[in-house]
Amino acid sequence: MQTLSGPSGIQELMDDLGEAMTIYPDMRMLGGGQPAAIPEVQALWRDRMREMLDDGTALDRALLNYDPPGGNPHFKEAFAQFLHREYAWPVTAENIAVISGSQTAMFFLFNYLADGGKKILFPLLPDYIGYANQNLRPGMFHGVPGVIEETGPHEFKYRVDFDRLKIDDSTAAMALSCPTNPTGNVITADEFDRLKQLAHSHGTPLILDCAYGYPFPNVVYTGFEPKWEPGLIFSISLSKIGLPGLRTSIVVADPRIVTALRNINAIVSLANGNLGQSILLPLLQDDRLMRVGREVVRPFYRQRSDFAVSVLAQSLGESIPWALHRRDGAFFLWLWLKNLRIPAKELYQRLKQRKVLVIPGHYFSFGVEEPWQQPAQCLRITFSQPEAIVQEGLEILAEEARATG
Ligand SMILES: Cc1ncc(COP(=O)(O)O)c(C=O)c1O
Repeated sequence: MQTLSGPSGIQELMDDLGEAMTIYPDMRMLGGGQPAAIPEVQALWRDRMREMLDDGTALDRALLNYDPPGGNPHFKEAFAQFLHREYAWPVTAENIAVISGSQTAMFFLFNYLADGGKKILFPLLPDYIGYANQNLRPGMFHGVPGVIEETGPHEFKYRVDFDRLKIDDSTAAMALSCPTNPTGNVITADEFDRLKQLAHSHGTPLILDCAYGYPFPNVVYTGFEPKWEPGLIFSISLSKIGLPGLRTSIVVADPRIVTALRNINAIVSLANGNLGQSILLPLLQDDRLMRVGREVVRPFYRQRSDFAVSVLAQSLGESIPWALHRRDGAFFLWLWLKNLRIPAKELYQRLKQRKVLVIPGHYFSFGVEEPWQQPAQCLRITFSQPEAIVQEGLEILAEEARATG
C-alpha cells in the first residue's frame, strides 16, 4: 500500500480539478476529464430522478438496500440483454460485473491479473495517467511507446509498434484505453485484430477501457465498433455520458474474471452504489441511451473540439512548430510543442500561475524501459468547459507556448 500513499499525477490532476470546480472558480479548467454540462443530457437524468421519486418505492429501494457485491441482478440481466440485443455481443448476466467506477475496476483487474510477479503490458503509450500509479508492486507495468506518424499539416497519430511489442510468459494481460486518454487516438480495426491475436495466442486477456467509447458515450469519430468476445475484458463507464458523480462502471468479461471482481469488491467495498444502476436501468430497455450518445453527446464534443482547434490554430499560427494528435475520439486535444525549451511540467506551472489548468504530457508515459522525451513536449487539453473559458485558456496557452518554444 506504500505505493499508493505518496503523491501521484492522478492525485495532482484530481486535486486541481476538484479545487477548480469548488474553491477556485476563476481557474480556467482545461485539465481533468470532467464531462460537459449538456442540457439535453442533464434533462434526461432529471426526468429519471423524477420518475424514481414518483414511483413510490424506486428511490427507497435504491437508497436503502445493499446490492450483491457484483451488481444488482436486475441491472446485470438488463445490461446483458442490452448488449446482446443492440450490439449482438455474446453475453449473459454472468459476463457482467458492476464496480464503483472504471478507475476502481482497472485497479482491481491489474492487480488481480498480475498477481504472482506478472506484468501488465500497455501496447500503445501515451495512455491514461490514472493507470500510472495503480500497481501494488513496483515494476508491474510495462509500456511500449507508439510510433509517430505525420498524418497532415500540424497533425500526427500514434500507431502500435508491433516490432517492439513483445508478449511472453511474464505478461498477465494487455491493456489500453480506447479512445485513448490523453491523445484522442482510436486504434484501427487492423491494430485491434493484431492485438487480439497476440493476446489470444498467449492465452492472456486484452483489456479495452471504453470510458469514452463504444458502446456509450461513443465519442468516436472513426466508426470503430469493437465487439466483445471471450478472452477480452471491456470496461464501460457511466461517467463520460454525464454521471461521474455516481461512480458506476460495468466490466464485461469471462465469468471467472467476473467472479474474481465480485469477490474483490465484497472485501474492499461490500457493495456498489445503487443509484447509477437504478437511473440507467429503464434506458437500457429502449434506445434512449444510445440515441443520447450518438445524437447529442458525440456531436456536442465534436463541435467543441472544432472550436478549440480553430482558436488554437489561430493563436499559434506558424509562429512555432506544433501539431495535434488526430482527433479520433474522446474529449481532449493532445498538443505537441515540437521545440519546447522547458519540460511540459514547467509550462503547466506557468499556466497555472495564469489561471489556466492543463495536464503536462510526461505523466502519460509510464512503465517505459528508456526515457521517452516526446510526451514531455506535449500537453493534454480538455475542451468540455464553456466556450468563453476554452477560448481564454487557449489564447493564454498560446502566448506562453510562443514564449517557450
Ligand atoms: C481512460 C479512462 N479510464 C477510466 C477513467 C475513470 O473513470 P470512472 O469515472 O469510471 O472511474 C477515466 C476518467 O477520466 C479515463 O479517462
